[in-house]
Amino acid sequence: MEKFGFKRIRPEDIEPNLIRLVEKEWMLVTAGTKERINTMTANWGGMGYLWNRPVVFIFIRPERYTYEFVESNESFTLTFFDESYRAALDICGTKSGRDCDKIAEANLTPLFSSEGNPAFEESEMVLECKKLYAGMLRDEEFLDPHILTAAYGLKGNLHKLYIAEIKSVWIK
Ligand SMILES: Cc1cc2nc3c(=O)[nH]c(=O)nc-3n(C[C@H](O)[C@H](O)[C@H](O)COP(=O)(O)O)c2cc1C
Repeated sequence: MEKFGFKRIRPEDIEPNLIRLVEKEWMLVTAGTKERINTMTANWGGMGYLWNRPVVFIFIRPERYTYEFVESNESFTLTFFDESYRAALDICGTKSGRDCDKIAEANLTPLFSSEGNPAFEESEMVLECKKLYAGMLRDEEFLDPHILTAAYGLKGNLHKLYIAEIKSVWIK
């Protein structure tokens, strides 16, 4: 990572407001290997402290191509970009890796950490995350039915929740 201009910081030293970061600036969820990788834009999720470790939590619909990659790898990364990459995040959030090479279309350059985790040379911050827990959201667990219908309508398609330990944080 160092050779791409990243330096390692502690998770507790992440600076930006985390709600604004996720909601407004979005992130890429990326998983896979040099041979097989996919990424998608996400802006539901967060960071915190759980089970005595720093964690992220993200939500992925099983129909996403990225779901297969997050399922079949022990780790995934969250990458954050400056505003000049908004168009790239739009592409990764509207096209599916099933149909095209969207990483190339978005002009992003994959790199791999020494742990083998995928990220992008263009990102400003990379979080390497190891999965700890995964479970489907269940409609009967929603306490406010308005949220369920507003987020999912009548046909369901709920997300899967992943909680993952933040193993490394890299910033430019
Ligand atoms: C701003 C934004 C945020 C998104 N957040 C999520 C999310 O949190 N979870 C999710 O499953 N999909 C989310 N999506 C949708 C996926 O990024 C989109 O369906 C993408 O095309 C999936 O690509 P894939 O099939 O290659 O995985 C978001 C899209 C955008 C534009």
